[in-house]
Amino acid sequence: MFDSDTIKSEFIFFLKEKLHFKDSEIYIDSDKGLSNANKDLIKEFIKKKNEGIPLDYILNSSKFNEYDFFVDSRVLIPRPETEIIVDYVKNHFSSPINILDAGTGSGCIGISIALNNPSFRVYGSDYSVDALDVACINKHNLNVKNFLLIQANWLSCFKTKCFDIIVSNPPYIAEGDSHLEKLVHEPNIALVSKENGLFCIKNIVEQSSKALKSGGILIIEHGYQQQDEVEETFKKNKFTKIINLKDFQLLPRITIGILER
Ligand SMILES: C[S@@+](CC[C@H](N)C(=O)[O-])C[C@H]1O[C@@H](n2cnc3c(N)ncnc32)[C@H](O)[C@@H]1O
Repeated sequence: MFDSDTIKSEFIFFLKEKLHFKDSEIYIDSDKGLSNANKDLIKEFIKKKNEGIPLDYILNSSKFNEYDFFVDSRVLIPRPETEIIVDYVKNHFSSPINILDAGTGSGCIGISIALNNPSFRVYGSDYSVDALDVACINKHNLNVKNFLLIQANWLSCFKTKCFDIIVSNPPYIAEGDSHLEKLVHEPNIALVSKENGLFCIKNIVEQSSKALKSGGILIIEHGYQQQDEVEETFKKNKFTKIINLKDFQLLPRITIGILER
């Protein structure tokens, strides 16, 4: 599944992060002894890598937007392209506003937005209680005061016209899609959506047209081949001034619209 260069660089990263090796101990001091505890950790690393477990789960840590998030197999590992959502909010809004991160998972989007601006009131919702447990660990580890967690089936529990911005990176992979073969260690609920991957997105867009204030903004991440259908759903639900942001490979991955009732 991984080439030997990837395994080598992951092993070096593991030695530094988990066993606190210095560069000199890795590259120069070939006689460095290992404690039994460290030998066990290295054996465990090799076993987990043989099972194809991602490094972030082995280290229980994932870097996102300059912060270290605790992660385990209950949540999706945060992806670099999702940082584009955080940067967009950071660069376009400043006054005290209510923001919802729907499907918060590890809390990476909502917590990063909340830490960037303490005047924002940020809510993170998820259907999975397991995911909310992880988000709660991150809220405490990163000492975030303006981030509140709520269990909800998308926006079903929220009042009408209560948010200024809704952001979401929902599950959007179609059932049976071949990409899923490489993602077996991540939770299915975080990845797969019915209706060719569009069911959750359609739900969120429809419900956002009620939960957002007039003039509110919806920001949704999606698959690179879903742009047209997502834009169509936005239009059907009274969103205008629709724009799309591209990821680092220049693929269309994030759609943004303004609600005009
Ligand atoms: C793609 S993951 C995104 C996690 C995190 N926001 C991120 O960007 O790394 C989608 C999240 O949506 C949650 N989810 C799935 N179905 C849901 C539903 N019906 N209502 C609320 N959240 C749901 C999953 O539990 C998962 O945490």
